[in-house]
Amino acid sequence: MRGFFGLAAAVVAGLLAQSGADPTVARPGGIDDIIITEDNILNSTTTVKEFKVNAAQAGALPISVVNNFDGGMYMYITGQDSSGVPCLLGANGQFVYPQADNTGVPIEIVANVALPLNGVGQTTVVTLPQALISARIWFARGQLKFYTVKDGNGVSAIVEPSAANPADPSAGVQWGFIEFNYDGTTIYANISFVDFVGLPLGMGLTLSTGQQQIVQGLQAGSVSNICNNVIQERSADGQIWDQLCVVSSSGQALRILSPNLYVSANPTGFSGYYDNYVNQVWSQYTNQDLTINTQTGYGNVACRVANNQLTCAGDNRAYPKPTTADIWGCNSGPFAIIASDNDIHRAVVPRLCAAFTRSTLLLAGGNLQPSLGQTSYYTVSPTSHYSRIVHNYETNGLGYAFSYDDVNPDGQNAAGVVSGSNPTSLKITVGGWS
Ligand SMILES: *[C@@H]1O[C@H](CO)[C@@H](O)[C@H](O)[C@H]1NC(C)=O
Ligand SMILES: *[C@@H]1O[C@H](CO)[C@@H](O)[C@H](O)[C@H]1NC(C)=O
Repeated sequence: MRGFFGLAAAVVAGLLAQSGADPTVARPGGIDDIIITEDNILNSTTTVKEFKVNAAQAGALPISVVNNFDGGMYMYITGQDSSGVPCLLGANGQFVYPQADNTGVPIEIVANVALPLNGVGQTTVVTLPQALISARIWFARGQLKFYTVKDGNGVSAIVEPSAANPADPSAGVQWGFIEFNYDGTTIYANISFVDFVGLPLGMGLTLSTGQQQIVQGLQAGSVSNICNNVIQERSADGQIWDQLCVVSSSGQALRILSPNLYVSANPTGFSGYYDNYVNQVWSQYTNQDLTINTQTGYGNVACRVANNQLTCAGDNRAYPKPTTADIWGCNSGPFAIIASDNDIHRAVVPRLCAAFTRSTLLLAGGNLQPSLGQTSYYTVSPTSHYSRIVHNYETNGLGYAFSYDDVNPDGQNAAGVVSGSNPTSLKITVGGWS
């Protein structure tokens, strides 16, 4: 059995038998099974305004990919060109513009956009010809399926593989991506596990000054290890952490969904998980201040619970109690930011949601947020065991496991970002840094 399924599958399958764990099984379907959400459509709704692309300056960017993972790997590059139009990098080195029809039904993109990687231990260099924003570089053990459908502006959008949907046509393939914006002069790239963990990816950016930035990313073997750890957490506390692990029909670990992505598709999952904790926090900060260090010119602001809401000095709105789903996503309920919110509100939301996600609010010293360092995060339940486990496998702890992972006491950093102007090359490793 071990030889047949491979080691990762054997480890997961072995645990399944022992613990009665119940991971999600990917059962890839067809066009009818595609679910389009904001996580897997790239349309002409753009952030281009922020990126004034100067075509005259827009330089080509070499991307070198080190394959430490497996044979039969492919990469894909998706994004919006300097006019905001969705496109993919074709095997001929030029952007490919998908052409949707008017039926409203996604059609598969059949142009040659699968860029094969050289074998294990080898490097493959691909040149991005010009600026690309809202971009992703996808890596897959096998080929992915991309589709196109017209968006509300009549522009052909790209429908991408969805990690949240176990019946997505690409669900049976192991894949992951890095995200970047490159306006032709300045690049910002990140590895993010806010939605899921798919493949161990690392990044190195070199600028024309010679400066190098490195985010080594997840260690080799992380996907099966994290799957095993979430399955163990199910045994430890009875919560449905095992469901976050997605396996193939033969039991091979493919990806781990964040609880936020999981509940987006399974709204009753984890319901009430944080409720007692939220009640205790509300009770504690009825009688004493919760101080938020805005880490801005506004300094520290004092917050207190009254009438079931947390109110902070100088903040334009109070905070009702968050639900568990509000804590996972940090962008709904009390954590939704609206246009009229002032700077203090915009500083409190990330710090408050990070404190709930990491369960630091009732620890000694937790009445000042952020102030406790990374060794205090995720030390008591309920907590985001997903974030805890993912950070355990990140080299140097770098890489967002939830959307406000960049909230830290001054001087600490958990973001997996490289950025700068006039990049001369972007290096990416697949399957562990080297
Ligand atoms: C693009 O997709 C998002 C997410 O589904 C949607 O909210 C938006 O309306 C779409 N834009 C257009 C122009 O269709
Ligand atoms: C990662 O980068 C992309 C592209 O710039 C951006 O849209 C996304 O919000 C970033 N993610 C995080 C967690 O910063």
